[in-house]
Amino acid sequence: MIRPAVPETFTLAGALLRQHKVVAFPTETVYGLGADATSSEAVANIYACKSRPQFNPLIIHVRDLAQAESFGSFTADALKLAQAFWPGPLTLVLNKQPNCPIDPLALAGMDTIALRVPNHPVARTLLEAVDFPLAAPSANRSGSLSPTTADHVQKSLGDVVPLIIDGGTCDVGLESTILDCTSDTLTILRQGAITQGDIESLLGCDLQTPTDSAIKAPGQLKSHYAPTLPLRLNASHALPGEAWLGFGDNPECTLNLSPTADIKEAARNLFVMLHLLDKPIYTGIAVSPIPHQGLGMAINDRLERAAADRS
Ligand code: TXA
Ligand code: MG
Repeated sequence: MIRPAVPETFTLAGALLRQHKVVAFPTETVYGLGADATSSEAVANIYACKSRPQFNPLIIHVRDLAQAESFGSFTADALKLAQAFWPGPLTLVLNKQPNCPIDPLALAGMDTIALRVPNHPVARTLLEAVDFPLAAPSANRSGSLSPTTADHVQKSLGDVVPLIIDGGTCDVGLESTILDCTSDTLTILRQGAITQGDIESLLGCDLQTPTDSAIKAPGQLKSHYAPTLPLRLNASHALPGEAWLGFGDNPECTLNLSPTADIKEAARNLFVMLHLLDKPIYTGIAVSPIPHQGLGMAINDRLERAAADRS
């Protein structure tokens, strides 16, 4: 059930979470499906609700840097990044602390941990309401599009999630940037709103982007974030039967990510519009070219994954 973000809802959410249940909640990136990260029963519930393969580790959401430091070992660079970009859409992959109390299933048995402090009032209130961190993948069935509204969550998981907290449409609209900080060379595992340029200018160094052969984030498999219909990228027009997802000045398209070619607006609209166009009345979705710059890199990354051959 969808409930507004009022005090009674947080009381209910706290009670459910303490009973090892899952609660869907908004973050600034996408909606998450949260549960107590220190409880194996709670974490098993997350995987079951999403039908997620158990080898794919979860992001651990914490309320602040101090809480994060009790779970992950911060390098000097990681500390700088956390101080600059938290709370916000950046996930840091660190070596876990020796006595880290996070359930091993949440980390898929790995010695590393992905940590993030979300910057959404609902997520922050929820993290203050309980005394444990929340493991939270995106609140969609495994392999389908990430949800950016409470309604998306309801459609994808409504029958198995006891509570969805409504916080409106997510502001960023794309999942967080994931940065591997476990070695001296930092590597971006997933592009997001904190761009490669943002990180490089803060640290004054060059980043690695992973090659397909060295995938360290299991969720970064090529076919992910997929709508049901096939996607055709860099399209200059729609073929008969196709919906057309435009960008920039384009009066003929079915929906437009941003008529003014504003890349932030396009990111916010991407999953919302893919959800809207992913209907059997169309044979496919043609997508206009999006510039490969800044946040456009993250948008193109999601589009390429969504378009990848799923056979
Ligand atoms: O914006 C976000 O990050 C959202 C919101 C809810 O916070 N969460 C999200 O979670 O996108 P999820 O589970 O859909 O994606 C998490 C990604 C997966 O690709 C997973 O493989 C990767 O993070 N990951 C988690 N732990 C990792 C680790 N220790 N090392 C490398 N990758 C990891
Ligand atoms: Mg996901």
